[in-house]
Amino acid sequence: MFELSPVTAETLAEAGHLIRKGGLVAFPTETVYGLGADARDGKAVARIFAAKRRPRFNPLIVHVASLDAAMRLGMFPREALGLAEAFWPGALTLVVPRREDSGLSDLVSAGLPTVALRVPAHDAALALIRAAGGPIAAPSANISGRISATRAEHVAADFGDSVDMILDGGPCAAGLESAIVALAAAGPALLRAGAIPAEDIERVLGRQLGQVGDGASIQASGMMQSHYAPRAQLRLDVNAPRPSEPFLAFGACPVRHDCNLSASGDLREAAANLFAHLRMLDALGAESIAVAPIPNQGLGEAINDRLRRAAAPRPH
Ligand code: TXA
Ligand code: MG
Repeated sequence: MFELSPVTAETLAEAGHLIRKGGLVAFPTETVYGLGADARDGKAVARIFAAKRRPRFNPLIVHVASLDAAMRLGMFPREALGLAEAFWPGALTLVVPRREDSGLSDLVSAGLPTVALRVPAHDAALALIRAAGGPIAAPSANISGRISATRAEHVAADFGDSVDMILDGGPCAAGLESAIVALAAAGPALLRAGAIPAEDIERVLGRQLGQVGDGASIQASGMMQSHYAPRAQLRLDVNAPRPSEPFLAFGACPVRHDCNLSASGDLREAAANLFAHLRMLDALGAESIAVAPIPNQGLGEAINDRLRRAAAPRPH
């Protein structure tokens, strides 16, 4: 297996050097692992799309170390500033108009006039951005359409040596991708539910978020029907699994199950376990995996969003 690099001052310096030379470095964030490259280097960004087998029309998130750095890349309307001040560093991605002088590769935003920006709440991620000396474009570090990576071992299993380095920061604390909010002319809209619940974002905004498809022509891969998909078929809202069918439980569960997202019914714990448990059950090689119902409140909305897409019919 590809060798993982523990996070140390030396490996961070080496990782920063690799990024500056146009390399690919996978790194931990508080949400999921990212597959990073210099966001200003078109060739390096193209390598991300190739390694992930990601369609070129699907733009990437640019990671920066501060709001100041973000404001040099995008234009922040008043509501965007309010959200950045409330949630950064953290699991919120803001899609704002891109500055003409941003210096970002056009590939990063797939030709859109906007850019997706985030300041991660993770010491190693922030140290890497500083060591690289500039913005880092990074999608989730998984093969396109498959289950996201919340441990360095998942990244190695998906990519092996098609990346230059994998920084191992242990399991990701949140385990779900960032929430994505677009600051469109029609008002702020939620493009992807994520590790910060929509109601927390609405509380700061003082108004409701529009939903995806409310006018904007913006696309988010998290919006695609089939995504986060294991090899097995997923059956959702199951209380009684079929004989010998792997079963992913939630809360107190009286029937046979293979693992439990959270025996105490804690949605935070369930989010942190979701992708690792799906990968583990998928490795059993069964035809289908049954998943217990998850309450649709708070983080449950993002968990159910991922499960629905993982269960959706696949293209091809
Ligand atoms: O938590 C996260 O957000 C992780 C970590 C690594 O930061 N990243 C992540 O990236 O989930 P990815 O590529 O898997 O998802 C990024 C999403 C995609 O759905 C993409 O379509 C959307 O962001 N996106 C990026 N730029 C956009 C833009 N300009 N307009 C609309 N959507 C955009
Ligand atoms: Mg992804």
